[in-house]
Amino acid sequence: MNKIKASTPGKLMLFGEHSVVHNHPCLVAAVDQRFLVTVEKIKGDELVVKAPAVGIYERKKLDELGTRRISKGLRFIEMTVKRFYEGHQNGGLKVVTENHFSSKYGFGSSAAVTVGLAKALFELEKIKISDKELFDFCYQVVLDVQGVGSGFDIAAALYGEVLCFVTGGREIRRLRFRTKTSESSEPLPIVVGYTGIKADTPTLVRQVGEIKRQHPVKVNKWFREITEIVNLAEKKINKGDWEEVGELMNKNQLVLQKLQVSSVELDRLIEACLKAGAYGAKLSGAGGGDCMIAVTSEEKRKGVEKAIVQAGGEVLRVNLGAVGARIER
Ligand code: MEV
Repeated sequence: MNKIKASTPGKLMLFGEHSVVHNHPCLVAAVDQRFLVTVEKIKGDELVVKAPAVGIYERKKLDELGTRRISKGLRFIEMTVKRFYEGHQNGGLKVVTENHFSSKYGFGSSAAVTVGLAKALFELEKIKISDKELFDFCYQVVLDVQGVGSGFDIAAALYGEVLCFVTGGREIRRLRFRTKTSESSEPLPIVVGYTGIKADTPTLVRQVGEIKRQHPVKVNKWFREITEIVNLAEKKINKGDWEEVGELMNKNQLVLQKLQVSSVELDRLIEACLKAGAYGAKLSGAGGGDCMIAVTSEEKRKGVEKAIVQAGGEVLRVNLGAVGARIER
């Protein structure tokens, strides 16, 4: 077969952002907004990339991958192919990506495209690779490109569902909690609100690293508090005890505010959800913008969604617990 298509889910951080960069656990859910990557062997010695959703159509000589300026939207694709070709150089390649979601929402499009592309490449060359080996390969690409990151988004794109994840993939464990079907006809009672502002994850990660460097005792204590929240949240999610999950979100948000990663816009949406009767709410991801999440009873869901819109946000309707990376036949 000369052409392979893979799909991967996006992700939503539930608990433990930032501390997960510093050797602590987090809880992450895969979302049912999928990314599609098609790879095809072509004649010649070039990588051709088409990503119509972001207006990219580029070509580059294979032996120049990773050299010269790499356009931002292409970095993950180029570095994935470069890393793969170091071991298995095999002629020209065409990569086409399609999104089911816009990369502006912070659903982890870079991780999703990296995992989808790597999975498709190994399949194209009929190379057997375990999920953990594929995780390590993709995590290395993330580090090549942005230098920082825990790899939690790679794990979500690869394994799917709802995971407990520890930095660098030291632990990747599925929660007992299952949505009814893999594409989740029974949603987690979570509402997602988008602030309209794009977060800059590497900058925020470095910022928190700097605060930690200046105040190690205080920040390590906050990270331990988050870890306790993560551990409890796993138990409560497994039991479906959403009221308590909400309270834990409020506690996690307080620590994130101390780490200075929340923003006026995030706080405004969070406040609006709580006023509308949500059990709890917090930012999701690096902070500074992107998304917030709220846990709510089904009766209050509509009111909470309305409150997000009235506070200037956009409600993103996603189901959590989607299946991980797969080859599309
Ligand atoms: C960003 O979505 C989550 C962070 O914890 C970064 C990471 O884990 O790579 C801030």
